[in-house]
Amino acid sequence: MKLKVYRYHEGMKEPRYDTFKLKSDPSITVLGALFQFQQEFDDSIAFHYSCRGAVCGTCAMLINKVPRLACRTQVASLIQGELKIPLSEFPAIEETVKWNPEEEILVEPLPNFPVIRDLIVDTTSFFNYYKFVEPVFKPADKTPEKERLMDPSAIPELELYTNCILCGACFGSCPIDGKNPDYWGPAALAKLYRFHIDPREKKGTDRLELANIPEGWWACEFYGNCRRVCPKGVPPLIAIAKAREQLNDINEKKEEEP
Ligand code: SF4
Ligand code: FES
Repeated sequence: MKLKVYRYHEGMKEPRYDTFKLKSDPSITVLGALFQFQQEFDDSIAFHYSCRGAVCGTCAMLINKVPRLACRTQVASLIQGELKIPLSEFPAIEETVKWNPEEEILVEPLPNFPVIRDLIVDTTSFFNYYKFVEPVFKPADKTPEKERLMDPSAIPELELYTNCILCGACFGSCPIDGKNPDYWGPAALAKLYRFHIDPREKKGTDRLELANIPEGWWACEFYGNCRRVCPKGVPPLIAIAKAREQLNDINEKKEEEP
């Protein structure tokens, strides 16, 4: 089995692909395969990783044309076709290079982000959108003397969104982020909704209104790639649909008012 890796650095006219034959080890991950590539083929290859345990989110890349965490994706499962995820098509995941998925693992940088070098992308705009949503807990009450109690019935829904590790896979799989660089993207909106439904925050519509703009809740066209690729099962699509529903209800009520 082989690893086919996207290579690019400043000054190159066009990116190239390097192919490397892996030592057979069925349990190796794509991140492990990249270490082999680095040690035995070319130590100048650039990629990000940190935890190696699907927690930090830094190793997200395009693997066999699907955004995934390299540290969590097994080479053998890819070759056996167990990890197929059908995605709604968009230009960034079109096949632009020849590869044989039965014999090769194709590794490329996350789409919708500018490439800095090889598999490293510039995540500035992704994190800027995350900052726009003010992902900071704003409690409705004063800090209690002992502890702030949580309503246990609110936890299952809150946890759906709290699990996000900011890997950017959803952003890289989103056809809208591909064509509209101003769209805040699935992760930021899911996080915004997470704070909107937190029962410990002040009840109100401030959080909803923050993204009540064409680049916020209203840009999504419900392709659903974000949900399919998320390594943590976060459903941005549901958050976006619920936020829109609530905003529509608010507008209807306003119109009914004398
Ligand atoms: S929502 Fe999922 S795919 Fe998107 S950044 Fe968070 S963990 Fe990654
Ligand atoms: S290295 Fe941390 S998520 Fe993969």
